[in-house]
Amino acid sequence: MDDKQPLEAIAKKLKIGEYHRHVLLCIGDACCSADAGAKSWEVLKDELKRRNLSLATGPTACYRTKVQCLRVCASGPILVVYPEGTWYHNMTAERIPEFVETHLVCGQPIEDWIFARNPLPNE
Ligand code: FES
Repeated sequence: MDDKQPLEAIAKKLKIGEYHRHVLLCIGDACCSADAGAKSWEVLKDELKRRNLSLATGPTACYRTKVQCLRVCASGPILVVYPEGTWYHNMTAERIPEFVETHLVCGQPIEDWIFARNPLPNE
């Protein structure tokens, strides 16, 4: 039996292979309170679902992942978007809807909230 078969089925169900962006949100407690991180994550999930970006296909299809640390550990919740490699600070629940609309739907990064850039591939 092929060991990869169950994983390939999971990946297909998650539409891995269809995404144009990946958003990682740190909910770790060194850059924000556990409560602030959890609230941002819930709003991010809801907004991606509401706008049909999550488990989707097409140019705005976006995969989401919560992580425990992105090694910045200040002014969180920290959020990074690939492939643009835009690093956002203070991504509280209140900011998430505007971020989803402006960056993920309209493709316009919000300059005032960005503190670093590392687009991939980095040539
Ligand atoms: S705990 Fe969030 S970046 Fe380290």
